[in-house]
Amino acid sequence: MMKTVKKAIIPAAGYGTRSLPITKVVPKEMFPIAGKPAIQYIVEEAIESGIEEILIVVSRTKNMILDYFDRSLEYEAFLEKTGKHHLLKKIVEPAISIQYIRQPFADGLGAAILLGKGFANKDPFAVLLPDDIFLKNDQPALRELLDVYKNYQSTVIALEKVNEKLLKNYGVVKGIDIKDNIYEIYDIVEKPRSNPPSNLAVSGRYIFEPSIFSHLEKGHKGVGGEVQLTDSIKEFLKLEKCYGVEVSSKRYDIGTEEGYFKLIQKVMSKSEQEDE
Ligand code: UTP
Repeated sequence: MMKTVKKAIIPAAGYGTRSLPITKVVPKEMFPIAGKPAIQYIVEEAIESGIEEILIVVSRTKNMILDYFDRSLEYEAFLEKTGKHHLLKKIVEPAISIQYIRQPFADGLGAAILLGKGFANKDPFAVLLPDDIFLKNDQPALRELLDVYKNYQSTVIALEKVNEKLLKNYGVVKGIDIKDNIYEIYDIVEKPRSNPPSNLAVSGRYIFEPSIFSHLEKGHKGVGGEVQLTDSIKEFLKLEKCYGVEVSSKRYDIGTEEGYFKLIQKVMSKSEQEDE
């Protein structure tokens, strides 16, 4: 039977240490991009890709995310009362079911995803890292992964060709090019200090089979004492097939000042072009 992906997990419980001091009070996921918080772009990408249910993994300091996606009765009443009806469309909640779970301590991306085990149940699911914002070309980045999943019915990871000097900051894969921008992946190395297996780095979109949870449950602590997702993918690869797709949308890492700044520039120039 053909499997389809309707669920997505957004892990948003990290400390955002690279963006301190602002992240002491403003979660990275709430950084504004042309008036909308980063996480709204992620939720919109999921909706446009056909996802129907989202689980956001949050922490004690991220209540702002829950408030943001909640209904704002106060604003609704105020806008009605003051006749600013045209602004009501700006505050409608996203047309998708969103659930939340708290990660008590940020002990790794792998640990955050494991909290979604009950949510995913026996279904394949997508993972969208909210600090990687993809500005879509023809179609949203996640949709490109879903198209590959549809054909291959196994785990799919977004890949990006990265300059050799920067590969040490990423998970890097070993694989063979099987078709256009699609690869079959055989191995993965987290932040290789030397001899990276290729120039293809993992970027923040994935589709997993629920079997990934049995690897995450082993809770092996890798680089930095955290439960690394990469370690579980490595184990998974020994048993099941995994594909990579080099997505055509451009990625911006808002966890770096440069990435955040470039993204804002791009979004603003796009909206200027649309206004002209
Ligand atoms: P990052 O390592 O990029 O984000 O994790 P971070 O930890 O928040 O930021 P830095 O590196 O300290 O600046 C990738 C994604 O995984 C989530 C983060 O919120 C981010 O979206 N994450 C990470 C969790 O949800 N829980 C964790 O324990 C770790």
